[in-house]
Amino acid sequence: MLFLRSSCPQLGVCPRKPFRVLPTLRVQSTREMTDNPTSDPSLRKLIIAIDGPAGAGKSTIASRLARKLGYANLESGAMYRALALKAIEKDASFDDEATLVKLAEESRIQLEPSRDGNRTLLNGHDVSARIRERDVTEAASRVSVHPKVRAWMVAHQRAMGAGGGVVMEGRDIGTKVFPDADLKIFLDADPVVREQRRMQQQKIKGEVAANVAADLRERDRRDRTRTASPLMAAEDAVVIDSTSMGEDEVLAQVEELARKKLGD
Ligand code: DC
Repeated sequence: MLFLRSSCPQLGVCPRKPFRVLPTLRVQSTREMTDNPTSDPSLRKLIIAIDGPAGAGKSTIASRLARKLGYANLESGAMYRALALKAIEKDASFDDEATLVKLAEESRIQLEPSRDGNRTLLNGHDVSARIRERDVTEAASRVSVHPKVRAWMVAHQRAMGAGGGVVMEGRDIGTKVFPDADLKIFLDADPVVREQRRMQQQKIKGEVAANVAADLRERDRRDRTRTASPLMAAEDAVVIDSTSMGEDEVLAQVEELARKKLGD
């Protein structure tokens, strides 16, 4: 169970919180947003990890699945993006691990799942759109290579998801954040198809599209080859190759796996 943002004081401890939450992060419950509000509350609340490279469709699948199950959808990449934005604002080097960790500790990063998608707040400001821009996207990939930055992120992500009832997506959720997750999905797709999907999503063509594709390839390379928690499927993950699958088809497959875990 997660708690409602409005029920908690600014930086303090939420009086009704069911698990310990590190003070800089607050997460809104999506229970009230579910498409299935009559679902039995006594059902076990799973931790579902969805990992994979950029453009494989993780975000869409994770948010649709979370909505179907009445779970919170936590996008771990948004946290790396928020820290990257903070580093840009403070003119900090993306290679300076100690400064980045200090910035993380000083920042208040909030993930707020909502019906219209996740909102990300940095020190109270809505940065949801800003963190999708090209400079932040590139910086997020660079700040995420540092082991101490990752340790800070992982600790907070664990605290957020510990109560279950979450679909958390990222690169290392099944391998590092929740190695005991109830269900692990590794969603992959052919690199060319992923690039094409990104271009369609962003409605871009020509040189701009070529630049986005090149960025995506470079981030992929960095995510897969970094020493600290490189992108890889957990041994017990269900690998889904969505290259020639539609979004609904992938969702149906993932939902079926989740329902099996719930004993439905
Ligand atoms: O999922 P995304 O594209 O928003 O992630 C932004 C960057 O953050 C990406 O380059 C890899 C990094 N990341 C990570 O290293 N581990 C995660 N669990 C999530 C994201």
